[in-house]
Amino acid sequence: MRSSASAPPSPASRPPISRGSRGRHEGRSGGRSGSSGGRYDRKDHFHQQAKREGYRSRAAYKLLDLQKQHALLRPGLAVVDLGCWPGGFLQVAAEIVGERGRVVGVDLAAVDPVLPNANVIAIQGGLEAPDICERVLEALGGRPADVVLCDAAPKLTGARDVDRAAEERLLEAVEALLPRLLRPGGDLVLKILEGPEAQQIDRRLRAAFARAKTAKSKATRKGSTERYLVARGYRGAAGPGADGSPDAPAG
Ligand SMILES: C[S@@+](CC[C@H](N)C(=O)[O-])C[C@H]1O[C@@H](n2cnc3c(N)ncnc32)[C@H](O)[C@@H]1O
Repeated sequence: MRSSASAPPSPASRPPISRGSRGRHEGRSGGRSGSSGGRYDRKDHFHQQAKREGYRSRAAYKLLDLQKQHALLRPGLAVVDLGCWPGGFLQVAAEIVGERGRVVGVDLAAVDPVLPNANVIAIQGGLEAPDICERVLEALGGRPADVVLCDAAPKLTGARDVDRAAEERLLEAVEALLPRLLRPGGDLVLKILEGPEAQQIDRRLRAAFARAKTAKSKATRKGSTERYLVARGYRGAAGPGADGSPDAPAG
């Protein structure tokens, strides 16, 4: 059965999740979701749905929901997915952009088993690694992406200051990658875990795009502090005002 959030074109490349990949996802996701409420629920509705429909993670339904709200992806686009493990976003993006498109993921963890989609390349590496831009651009065939997705989240420790600082570093790393990885006019979908430092970066990023909104997904766990910045029309490396358009209103 297909997701109620959207109808991705082809489930053929979604074999049932192997025991190995499912186990690893369950083992790590609880600490990285930004959830502030309770124990990770293995029987969670979206988790079960992902298992049934062959998605590597419940996060697939977040992207399907955001796609339904904002129509971000379409056939033929080049997409970068930062923080892609275990691969739910990669699967959804690959299905939508199709064989003329390309999806390049990056994560500290290896996407394992490798996704069967011919249009997906997953790179194992950190967003702060000095060579990550070159590796991603090479995988994209030399051109920057039309859309950058980022669902990355630091491993949470439960110590608020430490976690906020880690989130800030992560968002700054993404911000630093955009001038090379996203084409002018391109779009960004960025997960943000709430905090004062994140808000500052959110403001800076909004100014780098023609328009921006805050989006929430129905697939986000109850009690989570996460939201998504959906920013469209990247002004490019030259920054705010480069295309002569006014600053973005808050979404
Ligand atoms: C919530 S998971 C992403 C789920 C994914 N969007 C999906 O659809 O399956 C967050 C990921 O961010 C990754 N991450 C966190 N910090 C990172 C960093 N500095 N560089 C690369 N990946 C990072 C983690 O390894 C983790 O796999």
